Amino acid sequence: MGSKSHALLFHVHAECKTTRARAGLMKLPHYTVKTPVFMPVGTQGTMKGLLPEQLEELDCEIILGNTYHLGNRPGTKVLEKVGGLHKFMSWNRALLTDSGGFQMVSLLKLAEITEEGVKFKSPYDDSEIMLTPEKSIEIQNCIGADIIMQLDDVVQTTFQNYDRIKEATERTSRWLDRCLKAHKRPSEQSIFPIVQGLLNSELREKSANDHLTKDVNGFAIGGLSGGESKDLFWPMVSLSTSILDKNRPRYLMGVGLAIDLVVCVALGVDMFDCVLPTRTARFGCALTKRGQLNLKQKKYEADLNPIENDCPCSTCKNYTRAYLHCIVTVETVACHLISVHNIAYQMHLMQAMRENIEKGTFPQFVKNFVNEIYSDGN
Ligand code: GUN
Ligand code: ZN
Repeated sequence: MGSKSHALLFHVHAECKTTRARAGLMKLPHYTVKTPVFMPVGTQGTMKGLLPEQLEELDCEIILGNTYHLGNRPGTKVLEKVGGLHKFMSWNRALLTDSGGFQMVSLLKLAEITEEGVKFKSPYDDSEIMLTPEKSIEIQNCIGADIIMQLDDVVQTTFQNYDRIKEATERTSRWLDRCLKAHKRPSEQSIFPIVQGLLNSELREKSANDHLTKDVNGFAIGGLSGGESKDLFWPMVSLSTSILDKNRPRYLMGVGLAIDLVVCVALGVDMFDCVLPTRTARFGCALTKRGQLNLKQKKYEADLNPIENDCPCSTCKNYTRAYLHCIVTVETVACHLISVHNIAYQMHLMQAMRENIEKGTFPQFVKNFVNEIYSDGN
């Protein structure tokens, strides 16, 4: 047990002998989560296309919410009145919130970052909003998630020079201290620092080492969800996990492509989140063992198979590819049905990895997985 407060107890019970993969239990105030885990994203206090009860049915144990969106709507007053987001959205299991700055920089591209915080134009009206480390933690204390994120200085992966990446990395460490100081509920919520440094080994190493000295229950690895090529991105994950200590959970932010989940579990990552399963569903794309399947394609017009034959999800039990193809361009219900399957896919992949780590067969699992996903057999 490396945990410093009872807001999070992490225990690893199986380790792969060949890779850095490990299986564990993360005990949080609202739920005990099996790791490695994938966390679906419910930005506005709801999953796009899925209800909390459906997520429970899919064996989802922890989901992610976004501070900035929730701070605006319903807003802190309403959240305080109902006693937090768990009650407001009727989700009884574990919850994690991101700190807000990343969404501003990546979505709005209107953000201006200074030492004080992230300044941006409200997407709702013309006003300017300043999100400081203190403000982010205040909102996250109010939302009441089991795990909360520090505010970090995020740089876009493209067009950045060394000086700016260095500034952002060092500022992230300074902002971490401000976040830890502002945190009012340390016995109920764990703050994770975020390792930055983009694709620069020296800066990333420095960032991870800085965070390692802090009295925190876990760590996040950020700045790697921008679609960088694998040969640049995977080594940065490897470097980060080699420094971050073994007894605390490691969370790789914004990564959810199946091959990345498998490789990064092998590199010692315990937690992931991504909009990929629900976003691709909105484009008519289903995730399968043999890669992505685009249900809009004409070749599925008369295909009476389910998305995947051996998938136990309700979509695969009840609907054919042909039916989904038929409704995919006209009905939002198709997006819901595909989302159910895609979340089930991610959950089953994580479950398979946990079981294989426990049985000592993870390396063989990785081989089979890679063979199958690149077989192009849909
Ligand atoms: N989501 C994906 N990447 C990041 C990151 O670097 N920082 C934060 N706060 N959220 C993220
Ligand atoms: Zn299915």
